[in-house]
Amino acid sequence: MNDHAANPARPRVYLETYGCQMNVADSQTVSAVLRRAGYVTANGVEDADVVLLNTCAIREHAEEKVLHRLRELARLKNSRPEVKIGLLGCMAQHNRVAIMEKAAFLDVVAGPDSYRRLPEMIGSAGFDASIDVRLDRAETYADITPEYGGGVRAYVTAMRGCDKFCAFCVVPYVRGRERSIPPSDLMREIGELAARGVKEVVLLGQTVNAYRFGDVDFGALLRMIASIDGIDRIRFTSPHPSDMSESIIEAMATEPKVQPQLHLPLQSGSDRILAAMERGYTVAEYLDLVARVRAAIPGIALSTDIIVGFHGENESDFEATTALMRSVGYDSAFMFKYSVREHTRAFRLGDSVSEEEKGRRLTALIALQEEMSLARNHEMIGREFPVLVEGPARRGGGMMSGKTPQFKTAIFAASGIPAGNTVRVRVDSATGHSLMCSIS
Ligand code: SAH
Ligand code: SF4
Ligand code: F3S
Repeated sequence: MNDHAANPARPRVYLETYGCQMNVADSQTVSAVLRRAGYVTANGVEDADVVLLNTCAIREHAEEKVLHRLRELARLKNSRPEVKIGLLGCMAQHNRVAIMEKAAFLDVVAGPDSYRRLPEMIGSAGFDASIDVRLDRAETYADITPEYGGGVRAYVTAMRGCDKFCAFCVVPYVRGRERSIPPSDLMREIGELAARGVKEVVLLGQTVNAYRFGDVDFGALLRMIASIDGIDRIRFTSPHPSDMSESIIEAMATEPKVQPQLHLPLQSGSDRILAAMERGYTVAEYLDLVARVRAAIPGIALSTDIIVGFHGENESDFEATTALMRSVGYDSAFMFKYSVREHTRAFRLGDSVSEEEKGRRLTALIALQEEMSLARNHEMIGREFPVLVEGPARRGGGMMSGKTPQFKTAIFAASGIPAGNTVRVRVDSATGHSLMCSIS
């Protein structure tokens, strides 16, 4: 949004985002809605007329972070009662009324399908809070162009919601039913991004590969987007293993713009636990998928999500997860302790693994993955890759950085190469998190 200095009379809004990339993308939609209504961006809570938190409910820890922030904002509200404070996103949807008891000073509570109404809700919030947590199975915000940040990469929402109802997961309850953005809207929007210099798009959705609009499935969508001039690289996250159709694998294998990288959330390496989680696949099916993907797309990087300590997970289930991670050899992994979530199917099952034991399993798994990430990255030494230049490396010192096709961070000595250019580099050395390279 505009610098408020140029528009001193306009209301200033400060928006803070928690959670996944889909929430970050939603915040860009919220910014677009508010800008249309005349709001400008505040520099911080200090100079804001409206403070909004776009929140996450995936694990208890995510909610605790927001509750902590709300306690700070309660003090702000005390000293400046005219500031309007709003809770948006998944936690607003998840906690609804309970949150109003914990944070009675909230002026606005808006779920993920209510952002179109935000200006009205903020405007009408006075004595009473303005609450809208209705889920709307038709809301896609397809006509609202989000306020994309700068940079060579843009994250574009392709579908919203989730119909999978994995037993542990709150997402279907807080984001509602699956719905896909029409291909024509995506083509227009990504075409505009390309015209502004964006080189890489990451298509987003909680089960992004379940995308379907009329005859267009996700494989067809990948091909359509690949036809846009100026877009060099296409990625997507998160696909669900059960929706990884042959059409998608074929598009990845044959369309050079679709990058050799796949996030394939496993959750557990034990069939018993996968069944209890209601994930919809077995270990054998998952491994078969990994084999087909690797055969079709040589050199593809794989990453995953794992939950340790799901209700009923015993030592041998955990060992099965460890063994599976070893045998797949992921390039990277996100690993979490199971967190019981209200409203989910697993809520009534209980929480049989102690916090200490979850901690032990998580620590062991992280150590294993560090070892494997390092081994995978060491395999890259001596090889050459095209790198999409993003800018100076965080560590500075005349270094620049960008991503390889496998989405690994490449760091190389250079200066002044414009962001968005592609350079060829050779990998000289590696850590578990990045590749040290030289321009070849
Ligand atoms: N839609 C994606 C994942 C979305 S949430 C998918 O199906 O793969 C991101 C990750 O958070 C999940 O993959 C899972 O590993 C983790 N997660 C979700 N619910 C959780 C819970 N209740 N406790 C711990 N981790 C959870
Ligand atoms: Fe949650 Fe499962 Fe949907 Fe992923 S697929 S968002 S884990 S319910
Ligand atoms: Fe969290 Fe909602 Fe994303 S629960 S992980 S912000 S979809």
